[in-house]
Amino acid sequence: MRLTPEINGERLLRRLSDFAEIGGTSVGGVNRQALSKEDCAARHLLADLATARGFKVFQDPIANLFLRREGRNPAQPPMLVGSHLDSQPTGGRFDGALGTLAAFEVLEALEDAGYDTEAAIEVVAWTNEEGSRFAPGVMGSMAFVGAAHPHDFQSLTASDGAYFTEELGATLAALPLAEMRPLGTPISAYLELHIEQGPSLEREGLAAGVVTAVQGTRWLTVTFLGNAGHAGTTSLGYRRDPMVAATLALSRLQASIMPQDEDARLTVGRFSAHPGSINAIPDKVTFTVDIRHPDAASVTSIDAKVRAACEEAALSQRCSVEITTSFDMPPGSFSKIMTDRIEAAAQALGLSYKRMISGAFHDALFVARVAPAAMIFVPCRDGISHNEAEYVEPTDIINGARLLLEATLKSAR
Ligand code: GLV
Ligand code: MN
Ligand code: MN
Ligand code: MN
Repeated sequence: MRLTPEINGERLLRRLSDFAEIGGTSVGGVNRQALSKEDCAARHLLADLATARGFKVFQDPIANLFLRREGRNPAQPPMLVGSHLDSQPTGGRFDGALGTLAAFEVLEALEDAGYDTEAAIEVVAWTNEEGSRFAPGVMGSMAFVGAAHPHDFQSLTASDGAYFTEELGATLAALPLAEMRPLGTPISAYLELHIEQGPSLEREGLAAGVVTAVQGTRWLTVTFLGNAGHAGTTSLGYRRDPMVAATLALSRLQASIMPQDEDARLTVGRFSAHPGSINAIPDKVTFTVDIRHPDAASVTSIDAKVRAACEEAALSQRCSVEITTSFDMPPGSFSKIMTDRIEAAAQALGLSYKRMISGAFHDALFVARVAPAAMIFVPCRDGISHNEAEYVEPTDIINGARLLLEATLKSAR
């Protein structure tokens, strides 16, 4: 007899707490940055849980992790459901983990019910979604769809001094029993559940967001170069101070980009000075810029404004400036077939929802280049994310997983 698969809410909540302990911080957040020991431990736990349920475990050369429940027709490309397990340095316990563990719950619910699907269903945990330890983000899905190659990342080093190639090797070696598969194994569809990371669903009292598109992201690294000098003896006329240039550029940008365009986002999340001594004028000041906008042309024009402001500020202090791009993810839309399926699933379950676009970037947008893909959002408290205080109501977690299951069944049959 074929039972109707049902989400086991208690099991899902327990798994979320278990994973939150891996890299758990003292205030209830998570520090499980990509390819770290903590990330490896989370991948290990997920692979063990999969093996215990009889699912096959695979990884590819960029360490994307796949857990496969076989379908009736092994020749059909699998449907993929998942998200990521890596976190921000002071991240929350739901960003990524919710979508990955809810996808695993979908697989377990199908297994509990003995429910066969035509195509296999695979849970995926993409490598390095966050990009905070090694830029760019969504590295795993970029490589999966051929938009990048693992070689492109060979020379990356983390701010903690770790080498990308070594950390990737160690991560792959940590799962010796996982079968290796090439990048870009064909898939039939992709679904990802995620917290909204903004306040709109909670404010509007909605259970879910049907995500139709993702806005664009571009990351720049700006380096101002001047002359190191003595803090006490170097008078103004002798200074080429990159700190003055950098702060001048920043204050101009903060005053001119977001106030003039309410869709624009400009964030400087990292700022450092070399040599970083209290009584030395620095010779180098570096900061990162994260630009977001739903419109590709606006991303480009903000990028140009950043460059112009930095060049002008550098000139005013007789400094020079170098700007490099570490990540460029153009805005894009999801498949109408998939968003319609999610919408039909929400209606079938009686869940309130709206169609919306994502302000955060996600692996789903790269995956959408090779298969029909879409995302489901659930509310998070006060819209807070990339913060240890991130919180999601258990009801919203369970409803999100039920919606993911229903939408998966509409796609995988
Ligand atoms: C990734 O998590 C982002 O949108 O910044
Ligand atoms: Mn995420
Ligand atoms: Mn994130
Ligand atoms: Mn994200």
